[in-house]
Amino acid sequence: MSEIDLTITIGSLKLKNPVLLASGTVGYGNEISEFTDLNKIGGIVTKSISLKPRKGNPPQRIVETPSGMLNAIGLANVGVETFIKEKIPFLEKLNATIICNIAASTLEEYIECVRILNNENSITAFEINVSCPNVKDGGLIFGNDVLWVGKITESVRKETSKPIIVKLSPNVPKISEFALVVKKEGGDAVSAINTLVGTAFDIYTRKPKIKNVTGGLSGPAIKPIALAKVLEIKRTVDIPIIGIGGIMNWKDAIEFMIVGASAIQVGTANFINPNVSNEIVDGLKEYCKSQNIQNISSLVGSYVI
Ligand SMILES: Cc1cc2nc3c(=O)[nH]c(=O)nc-3n(C[C@H](O)[C@H](O)[C@H](O)COP(=O)(O)O)c2cc1C
Repeated sequence: MSEIDLTITIGSLKLKNPVLLASGTVGYGNEISEFTDLNKIGGIVTKSISLKPRKGNPPQRIVETPSGMLNAIGLANVGVETFIKEKIPFLEKLNATIICNIAASTLEEYIECVRILNNENSITAFEINVSCPNVKDGGLIFGNDVLWVGKITESVRKETSKPIIVKLSPNVPKISEFALVVKKEGGDAVSAINTLVGTAFDIYTRKPKIKNVTGGLSGPAIKPIALAKVLEIKRTVDIPIIGIGGIMNWKDAIEFMIVGASAIQVGTANFINPNVSNEIVDGLKEYCKSQNIQNISSLVGSYVI
């Protein structure tokens, strides 16, 4: 058998393998580079960037839960200007695909961020995080409103010819409706899923363990939900999917690919083993060898029901 082909194509985005680092769990790659080989993986999704720096929420911002963690970081980030000045120089030295994740609280902010960052050659694609706070006119969360997700996709599409991946919220009744609107408005792919809303209370103080009261649940606890969301999209909409949620090892990654993910992202697992993404790449190769699979892309959506 000749060399296993781990390459993956997602619209116009070409990856050397399907393993990506999830936004917010490795900073701008720099936080993890001492512990793992960033050149070996398919790519890095950077921490959500907003137009201006954000301090995020006050602590406590993270708490461990059974088989998972809750976080309410509140999109703390350095902002576009500092990102370009201080973080891009590190990223552009890598032989890795850089996917820049963008968060915003208005439509105009999304547009402006993409417009500025589109000039950076080291950014290969954009991941648009629509599961973040509020719009200008009050209480709506973008990611829970199909019209907003459509509008955001349509608007950022006009600003760039680079691939656009829209990161979907799982906190909706029908995630496939959101994937459909992303496809309709010219998005190249969807990422599924972001964290699920959860909380935890201290039984003695009777106070929430997270200052923000609720946080986003991630880790192995959410894997079955994430798999079901990926499968729902795969069975309904013809759009590439990047699977995320509780991927801890290569077996989890394979499972996501079988239900329909073209690529996967590793998040919470990085906090336990910062080299896990490299190990997943090795595991995928070994699995393909043992199963006589020449091209890993043939696994995508190969489920039998
Ligand atoms: C500490 C922490 C910070 C995160 N920050 C972001 C972020 O800035 N932008 C984003 O799109 N997702 C963010 N996420 C969500 C992850 O990228 C991922 O979608 C989620 O954690 C599920 O994957 P996992 O179970 O492998 O962690 C964050 C997750 C964690 C745990």
